[in-house]
Amino acid sequence: MANSDRVVLVLGGAGTVGSGIVKALLDKGFKVAVISRDDGRLERLRSLVSPTTQDNLTTVVGNVGSEDGAAEAKEALLRAVGKVTDVVSSLGFSWWQEGPPHTQTLKDLHWVMETLLFSTFVSWKVFFPLVRDDCSCTYTFITGGAGEKLLMPGTGFLTIGAASALAFCQVLREEYPEVPCKLNQVKINTGVATPDRMRPGYLDHLDLGEAVAALVERRSSSHSVFTVNCPADLKTALLERNL
Ligand SMILES: NC(=O)c1ccc[n+]([C@@H]2O[C@H](COP(=O)([O-])OP(=O)(O)OC[C@H]3O[C@@H](n4cnc5c(N)ncnc54)[C@H](OP(=O)(O)O)[C@@H]3O)[C@@H](O)[C@H]2O)c1
Repeated sequence: MANSDRVVLVLGGAGTVGSGIVKALLDKGFKVAVISRDDGRLERLRSLVSPTTQDNLTTVVGNVGSEDGAAEAKEALLRAVGKVTDVVSSLGFSWWQEGPPHTQTLKDLHWVMETLLFSTFVSWKVFFPLVRDDCSCTYTFITGGAGEKLLMPGTGFLTIGAASALAFCQVLREEYPEVPCKLNQVKINTGVATPDRMRPGYLDHLDLGEAVAALVERRSSSHSVFTVNCPADLKTALLERNL
């Protein structure tokens, strides 16, 4: 199947990480669909992508973090694009450092879990059936290495939320070992930023997007975790390993 016949749904495609992936996929000739709760974010995404590829980008206003919202968004999406062949899930938030656990409330923890885990689970439950039984389809999770250690004081709930997303991906690999769809995870152990917000050691979201788009394009592995510690890993971990 040519890239132009594939339709990639990027969950969280209006975010920092997701928008780089959307641009790279469009540049490779894929059709791309993005659902966001915020029309303004979708407009900003449209201005980021290459003008010649804009016609291949479909945007839907919706909330994939609730069961009803995700089901509604799926219907709207299928009406607009007909089918989905690939999904990239990049839901969550960029950073959280609100303080140590004793300063936080249950509501704060609930928000973190809702943002990093519940939305990932709910959207997977709704969208995975579109791709699960086809070996030419892919489902790729973007996760953060923050789940393995406390990054710095005050970031504890980020660790808890990111760890739950890592565990969810592991559970899927082990519960569905034979699923035909290529199920992969990209674990990013460093910051990701847009070019205007780059800091030393961070990944440019466009470079990360190119590497993730290459992974989606090749479809050569499944049930794998691609770990990215630094910019050089984008080439070795994601691009070369798939050749
Ligand atoms: N940025 C980094 O430095 C970094 C580093 C390592 C790993 N990561 C991982 O990359 C992923 C994305 O991060 P990001 O930096 O791109 O975050 P972001 O810019 O805040 O974007 C996150 C996206 O998630 C969606 N989202 C959040 N909560 C939701 C909910 N309850 N229901 C539906 N959608 C929801 C948002 O959708 P709307 O458009 O609807 O608001 C948004 O598009 C996260 O899993 C994060 O752990 C990020």
